[in-house]
Amino acid sequence: MFRYGAFALLLAFECVIHLSRGTEVTVKDKDDKLCLYANLSVNFSVSYMASENKSALAQFELPAEVTSNGSRCDNASSTLKLNFGAGHSWTVNFSVSGNAYRADSVTFSYNLSDATVFPKSASTDTLSVTVRPHITDVSMGTCYSCKSQETIRSDSVNQTLWNVLIQAFVSNGTQSENLTTCAADLPSTPTASPTTVAPVTNSTVAPTTAPAPTLPTPTVGNFSVKPDDNGTACLLANLGLRIGVKQGEKYQEMNLDPNVTRASGSCGVNSSELVLESNAMTVVLTFTNDTKKFRLQAVNVTAKLSSGVTFSEANGSLSLWEAAVGSSYMCNKEQNDSITGRLNIFTFNLQVQPFAVKKGLFSTAEDCQTDSESFLLVPVAVGVALLVLIVIVLVAYFIGRKRNMASGYESF
Ligand SMILES: *[C@@H]1O[C@H](CO)[C@@H](O)[C@H](O)[C@H]1NC(C)=O
Ligand SMILES: *[C@@H]1O[C@H](CO)[C@@H](O)[C@H](O)[C@H]1NC(C)=O
Ligand SMILES: *[C@@H]1O[C@H](CO)[C@@H](O)[C@H](O)[C@H]1NC(C)=O
Ligand SMILES: *[C@@H]1O[C@H](CO)[C@@H](O)[C@H](O)[C@H]1NC(C)=O
Ligand SMILES: *[C@@H]1O[C@H](CO)[C@@H](O)[C@H](O)[C@H]1NC(C)=O
Ligand SMILES: *[C@@H]1O[C@H](CO)[C@@H](O)[C@H](O)[C@H]1NC(C)=O
Ligand SMILES: *[C@@H]1O[C@H](CO)[C@@H](O)[C@H](O)[C@H]1NC(C)=O
Ligand SMILES: *[C@@H]1O[C@H](CO)[C@@H](O)[C@H](O)[C@H]1NC(C)=O
Ligand SMILES: *[C@@H]1O[C@H](CO)[C@@H](O)[C@H](O)[C@H]1NC(C)=O
Ligand SMILES: *[C@@H]1O[C@H](CO)[C@@H](O)[C@H](O)[C@H]1NC(C)=O
Ligand SMILES: *[C@@H]1O[C@H](CO)[C@@H](O)[C@H](O)[C@H]1NC(C)=O
Ligand SMILES: *[C@@H]1O[C@H](CO)[C@@H](O)[C@H](O)[C@H]1NC(C)=O
Repeated sequence: MFRYGAFALLLAFECVIHLSRGTEVTVKDKDDKLCLYANLSVNFSVSYMASENKSALAQFELPAEVTSNGSRCDNASSTLKLNFGAGHSWTVNFSVSGNAYRADSVTFSYNLSDATVFPKSASTDTLSVTVRPHITDVSMGTCYSCKSQETIRSDSVNQTLWNVLIQAFVSNGTQSENLTTCAADLPSTPTASPTTVAPVTNSTVAPTTAPAPTLPTPTVGNFSVKPDDNGTACLLANLGLRIGVKQGEKYQEMNLDPNVTRASGSCGVNSSELVLESNAMTVVLTFTNDTKKFRLQAVNVTAKLSSGVTFSEANGSLSLWEAAVGSSYMCNKEQNDSITGRLNIFTFNLQVQPFAVKKGLFSTAEDCQTDSESFLLVPVAVGVALLVLIVIVLVAYFIGRKRNMASGYESF
C-alpha cells in the first residue's frame, strides 16, 4: 500500500531533494525565478452516473505528466494549477497570513467526456469540487512536508494526498531546507509518566521547523533472559531506553515502552544476547566475555519511524558498558552512547549483567559514576599536589631571599 515504503529510506528530508514518483512541478514568477514548488501524490476516487442510471466509480492517480498553465505567484496569494489528461485540473490556492501561509482551497475539475477515465458516463459535463485541505500554519520560508495520507472527502469525490512537499512563496528563487511537518508525521508521544509534564501543544501556533517534542524519561523495565521456560535468569537488564535516530536533516527520539516489550535472547559462555521487541522497535544487544571483562559489543536497532519508514542501524564493534565478569554494570545517570552516525541510544537507571548471574540476582555492581569520578579524581589530585609543591617552593625561596637581604648579602 505504501508506495514509498521501500525507497523512502534513501530520501533525505530537505525540500531541495526531490521525492521520486510523485508529481513534481515548479512555478516561476515574472522574473523567471522559482516561486512555488510542489511534489506530491494524489489519488482520486470519483463516483459518477454511468448509463442506465447506474453509479460507477473511477479511481485514478494524479499523473506525473502535468502542466502548470494557470499557476501564478503573488506576494500574498498564489495558485498552483495542475492540468492533466483530457481537461482535468487540480488547483490549490495559497495565502499568507502573518508569518505563515496556508492552502485555502483545493479545486478538482474533471471532464466526464473523457471516456478513458469515466467510461460510459451519462454526462459529458466538466464538474468541479472545492474542498479545504489541512495545509495550514506553514511557516514562511519553509516547505510543508506530509508523508502521511490525508483523505479529503466530498459528495462524489475523495482525494487522498500523500508524500506532499510544497513550498509556496519561495523567496529569492531558492527552495528552503527547512520543513514544517504535518502533525500526522510527528512522533506520537507515548503516554507521559506522572512525574513528567507533557509538552503543551498549541495547534494555533505555527509549528517550528525542527519539531523536537521533549519526551518523558522512559519507564525503567526489568528484563531477563532465561535459558529455558523454568530456569532462573541467566541475563538481567534493568533500564529505561530511548533511541535517537537521524535521517537526513531530521532527528527523532523514541522511548521503549517496557509494558509492551517482550524480552528474549540467549546466554553463552563467550557471548550473550538480549532482544527487546515492541511494536515500535526491536533492539538487539550483544555482550561478549573476554575472560575477565564483559562489554556491550553489538547493538542493532530496527524501528518504525513516525514517517512510516523502517529504520535499521547496527554496529558490531563497540566497547560499551564494561565490567568484570561476575559483576554487573550499573549507570543510574542518563547515558548517551553513540552507536552509529545515525543512531544514539540513551539509557536511564541502567543495570545489566549478561554473564555469571547467580540465583537470578544481580551481583556487585560496577558503577559508571564512580568510574568517571575516579577518572577525574586522579588528574585533580595530581594537579593539587603540584600546586602545593610550587607554593612551598616559592614561599621557601622568598623567605630565603628575605633573610639573605636582611643579613646584607648579595642575593646571587
Ligand atoms: C493510489 O492508487 C493506486 C492505483 O489506483 C493504488 O495502487 C495505490 O494503492 C493508491 N494509493 C493510496 C494511498 O490510496
Ligand atoms: C469516500 O470515502 C467514504 C468513506 O471512506 C466512502 O464511504 C465513499 O464511498 C467514498 N466516496 C468515493 C467517491 O470514493
Ligand atoms: C433515471 O432515474 C431518473 C430519476 O432518478 C428517472 O427520471 C429516469 O427515467 C431514469 N432513467 C432511466 C434510463 O432509467
Ligand atoms: C473533455 O474530454 C473530451 C473527450 O476527451 C474532449 O474532447 C474535450 O475537449 C474535453 N474538454 C475540455 C474542456 O478539455
Ligand atoms: C532554516 O532555519 C534556520 C533557523 O531558523 C535559519 O537560520 C536558516 O537560514 C533556514 N534555512 C533556510 C534555507 O531557510
Ligand atoms: C495558543 O496560541 C494562541 C494564539 O497564538 C494564543 O492566543 C493562546 O493563548 C495559546 N494557547 C495556549 C494554551 O498556549
Ligand atoms: C518445566 O517444569 C515442568 C513442570 O513444572 C516440567 O514438566 C518440565 O519438564 C520443565 N521443563 C524444563 C525444561 O525443565
Ligand atoms: C505500565 O504498567 C504499569 C503496571 O502495570 C502501570 O502502572 C503503568 O502506568 C504502565 N505504563 C504505561 C506507560 O502504560
Ligand atoms: C568467560 O570466558 C572465559 C573464557 O572463554 C570462560 O572461561 C568463562 O567461563 C566465561 N565466563 C562465563 C560466565 O561464561
Ligand atoms: C570461548 O572463547 C574461548 C577463547 O577465545 C574458546 O577457547 C572457546 O572455545 C569459546 N567457547 C565457546 C563456547 O565458543
Ligand atoms: C539487524 O536486525 C535486522 C532485523 O532483525 C536484520 O535484518 C539485520 O540484518 C541486522 N543487522 C545486522 C548488522 O546484524
Ligand atoms: C548524544 O551524544 C552525541 C554525540 O555522541 C551528541 O551529538 C548529542 O547531542 C547527544 N545527545 C544528547 C541528548 O545529549
